[in-house]
Amino acid sequence: MSSSSVVLVLLFVSAPLVLSAGSSKCISRSFGHDSVVCECNSTYCDSVGSVQLPPVGRFSSYLSSMEGSRLEAREGQVQKNSSGTGLRLTLASYQKYQKIRGFGGSMTDAAAINILSLSAASQDQLLRQYFSPEGIGYSVVRVPMASCDFSTRLYTYADSPGDYSLDNFTLAAEDVHMKIPLLQRAQALSPGRLSLLASAWSAPAWMKTNGALTGKGSLKGQPGGKEHKAWAQYYVRFLEEYSKHNLSFWAVTTGNEPSAGRMTNYSFQALGFTAEEQRDWVSLDLGPALHASPFPKTHILILDDNRLLLPYWARVVLSDIHAGRYIHGVAVHWYLDGVVPADISLGITHSLYPEYYLFATEACAGWSPLDRGVKLGSWDRAEQYAHDIIQDLNHHVVGWTDWNLALDQTGGPNWVKNFVDSPVIVDSKRDVFYKQPTFYSLAHFSKFLLEGSQRVGVSASTETDLEFTAFIRTDGSVVLIILNRYTTVKQDGNTQNHLHDVVEFSTRFTHTHSYIQ
Ligand SMILES: *[C@@H]1O[C@H](CO)[C@@H](O)[C@H](O)[C@H]1NC(C)=O
Ligand SMILES: *[C@@H]1O[C@H](CO)[C@@H](O)[C@H](O)[C@H]1NC(C)=O
Ligand SMILES: *[C@@H]1O[C@H](CO)[C@@H](O)[C@H](O)[C@H]1NC(C)=O
Ligand SMILES: *[C@@H]1O[C@H](CO)[C@@H](O)[C@H](O)[C@H]1NC(C)=O
Ligand SMILES: *[C@@H]1O[C@H](CO)[C@@H](O)[C@H](O)[C@H]1NC(C)=O
Repeated sequence: MSSSSVVLVLLFVSAPLVLSAGSSKCISRSFGHDSVVCECNSTYCDSVGSVQLPPVGRFSSYLSSMEGSRLEAREGQVQKNSSGTGLRLTLASYQKYQKIRGFGGSMTDAAAINILSLSAASQDQLLRQYFSPEGIGYSVVRVPMASCDFSTRLYTYADSPGDYSLDNFTLAAEDVHMKIPLLQRAQALSPGRLSLLASAWSAPAWMKTNGALTGKGSLKGQPGGKEHKAWAQYYVRFLEEYSKHNLSFWAVTTGNEPSAGRMTNYSFQALGFTAEEQRDWVSLDLGPALHASPFPKTHILILDDNRLLLPYWARVVLSDIHAGRYIHGVAVHWYLDGVVPADISLGITHSLYPEYYLFATEACAGWSPLDRGVKLGSWDRAEQYAHDIIQDLNHHVVGWTDWNLALDQTGGPNWVKNFVDSPVIVDSKRDVFYKQPTFYSLAHFSKFLLEGSQRVGVSASTETDLEFTAFIRTDGSVVLIILNRYTTVKQDGNTQNHLHDVVEFSTRFTHTHSYIQ
């Protein structure tokens, strides 16, 4: 495989519709927004099926559109050297970047409550949509340690005041009866080992300066002190208790949104850290505690907060060799991404600390006061997801984690009424669930970019509004994902193709090298 390379033509070549093995069509339903949801019940759900690689010389494409296409499969002939004058995307397979870890969502209390509100058969159907080989290939699940806003009550696992040795540490009913059984079922459906990721929202109130789970507060004392040590040991106890249920964690974060716990009157569970406090807590407490535990290989991800805080946060924490040796990556949330350019946050962090990976741990639509809650069939939100994922991937991020795996039609339950949207909205009265446009947006990545896929260079022959990213998978096939957020894109002099609003398009080749000159 040598340098310059051939072109993937963006056009849809007219070709008979070829559906993959086991595929089935979306039962679409409109709720008055700009696009539709796909309705699923205990006996039926649309699926793209298990994807087969096309024969050499041909490609498969998968299209989702505002008009209602959902991962619509087609096959076409690869044009090795298109003579067209239109836009070409050229792969530079010698430019190699990060390898994918995975995509997924979060098993919050709310997600578990919603999934379990369906009949057993519908529950299975929903879990298969995310985790089974016919589903969309989720391999990452973020698990809140104890309660967060998407809970129905406030609790931690060690609420007995002064229990520094964590003698009374105990998982909650939410873990034992809801989240753990669902995680076990997800694992059983999944073709590979799930990468579980744990984040805590708050330490027990008695360990904190404000004596409460909510509001402005941090751990009492100093890193190295008894509260900081007990809080690190709490992580070890959590990993021990989950391991008794055969669930092992790939990673833990240093805590959800440490900046929230530094805001006056923050309305839900939070634990404040400055970057300096986080650095010293990892170096003196969390790092050594995990290292000495039965789980020394568990990755530690810092930040778990908006990229607005980068590269500042990484500089403070990762420049310290005592903390840095325990840390594997930097976790980012998507809130405020619109006002924080990726290159000056993610890009600079990567160039300063290339040995630490970047991982996106939380995102949801419907969080902004201007655009709140569930919108069934919103295509705009599907575009927001795809835009953010492409931008992250093009700035070294190795995985992207959605927020709640499922919510109800009000966007909850959430004890502070912080209602948001989810790719799966459950209607338990009818025993159905709706797959939102965002579900398919994520699928364009999660279904095709399997673990180990490596991003490669790709460039456009002319200026274009299309957004795209390209990968080579471990089986040698190429995946090109394209997002069109505009009404019309001129593709070619002869064939003006009006790709309505959004096109995401993945092209897959076998034996990539045979097309690369
Ligand atoms: C589920 O949906 C399919 C397709 O719309 C329909 O044929 C079937 O009757 C539904 N099953 C139930 C149990 O409602
Ligand atoms: C591709 O097309 C260009 C222009 O039509 C031509 O100059 C070039 O030799 C072609 N390359 C191959 C490998 O056919
Ligand atoms: C643990 O809980 C028991 C029963 O609630 C209580 O009696 C005991 O004091 C607690 N231990 C600690 C260390 O808090
Ligand atoms: C534990 O989980 C692994 C997969 O993660 C599975 O192979 C194994 O059978 C499970 N063991 C038990 C006792 O359930
Ligand atoms: C915090 O909330 C409490 C109760 O609502 C209120 O009395 C107090 O004034 C608030 N403090 C600030 C600084 O907003």
